Amino acid sequence: MPGTNTYRSRRTRRRLKTIVTMLIILALVAGFFYVRNLLTGSEQEAVDTAATNEELFDSFIERVNELEKKSQEYGDNKVITLNSGNLFAHIIYPEGDNDILNQNIKEWVDKTLYRYLEDSKESVSELSIHSTSYIIEEKYISVLLDGSYSNATYAHPEDIVKTFTVDSQTNQIVLLSDIYGEQQFQQIRNKVIADAKLDDDVVDEHLLDDFLFTDNGLTIYLKRGKYTPMSDGNVAIELTERFFKEHDATYYKPRNTKKNNVVNNEKIVVSEVVVDETIKDKKLIALTFDDGPSIYTERLLDILKQNDAKATFFVLGSQVSKYPETLVHIVQSGNEIGNHTWDHKDLCRLSEKDIEDEIMTTRTKMFNTAGVDALAIRAPYGSVNDSVKAVAKKFNMHFIHWSIDTLDWKTRDSDATYNAIMKNAGDGQIILCHDIHKQTVDAMDRVIKQLKSDGYEFVTVSELFKLREKGIEAGKVYFDAR
Ligand code: NI
Repeated sequence: MPGTNTYRSRRTRRRLKTIVTMLIILALVAGFFYVRNLLTGSEQEAVDTAATNEELFDSFIERVNELEKKSQEYGDNKVITLNSGNLFAHIIYPEGDNDILNQNIKEWVDKTLYRYLEDSKESVSELSIHSTSYIIEEKYISVLLDGSYSNATYAHPEDIVKTFTVDSQTNQIVLLSDIYGEQQFQQIRNKVIADAKLDDDVVDEHLLDDFLFTDNGLTIYLKRGKYTPMSDGNVAIELTERFFKEHDATYYKPRNTKKNNVVNNEKIVVSEVVVDETIKDKKLIALTFDDGPSIYTERLLDILKQNDAKATFFVLGSQVSKYPETLVHIVQSGNEIGNHTWDHKDLCRLSEKDIEDEIMTTRTKMFNTAGVDALAIRAPYGSVNDSVKAVAKKFNMHFIHWSIDTLDWKTRDSDATYNAIMKNAGDGQIILCHDIHKQTVDAMDRVIKQLKSDGYEFVTVSELFKLREKGIEAGKVYFDAR
């Protein structure tokens, strides 16, 4: 998923240019070593079989469970990544089918981003916001946006907490005082004051403004600096079902339809790519879809099947948690899956341990869901450096980037996506699309039919490289198989 373009400065574009230039140089260097390897007759390393890696996956399962504990029941994640030169911002927020909630969240996100952009003008700073959401008894949707802002000139990072709860029947954003009667509201308030040991003089009418219904009950967030000392950090007070029973107050339960993240299918262990040699003489092209699975992916699979075409899906671990069955369907229908990290962070900004975490939790989740050990990574934003490549190499993985960028995320227009592909299509190319946009999926029937009549075959990335006899080495970045 791309960042918003709105805030991108000229400096960022220059930086992007530098990155692209570096990538081209790297590709040339990689090409040199590849040719040298061919000349010395060294063979491509055999792909590890999944079976031997089960131990490796075991070491990441706990972390996957931890990541999945973060409930995201409302909508799909939107990502904003911004680098203004001074401010690096990474914001994940949900967008779903409630317009009032979407609107309130987006307004807050824009306002927050703008505020910290202003604040960061004089010094280097970082803003990071994530989201958690619950749907309660089909009545309330409760969303928490939390994170932190650190500015090099401040002693403490600033904690960020904002919550929204919408009553989906009245379609209004509600406060606790709208949900509970006066007496119950006061009981909750007294409990929070007592539990947080607050002094009377810091308590005001906004004390209970930030609250979240969760699967444990009700959580109230108290901003540090405002209600509690800076040294305490943000304080979250949890009120469980017991509290509501004791006080004879309504206890709102989470809906009981939480997706079961484990799919009990037989493990399909794919260790070797089998290709149809008869299509070798045709023009070959690889469609790739990033950031899913999403609600549009199943329809895309139908379109691919109807047209006897295959594609490669670079999925997010966090999305696999939401659409595990779809991941299985992708694999079962002969398409390929690859790794697009857990939640789309710019890997170049992370420590080596965090890079490992982003990649390996996703690989583990994919294996446990669909039984496939996928070794191809598509780095978010195509952003890689030496540390990122070193991590990939350590785990016998490589990068598959792209040679045709449809910019479908930007145009959100079927015709524009169709035209971008038609204009640039060629043998051995890898096309970048996103299956999280309806307009992209809408364009695909036309794209495939037209290119097929032009003599193309749609293959997975692995098939493309095998048929074009292009070797793949761990730690390397590939853009096409031309
Ligand atoms: Ni992406």
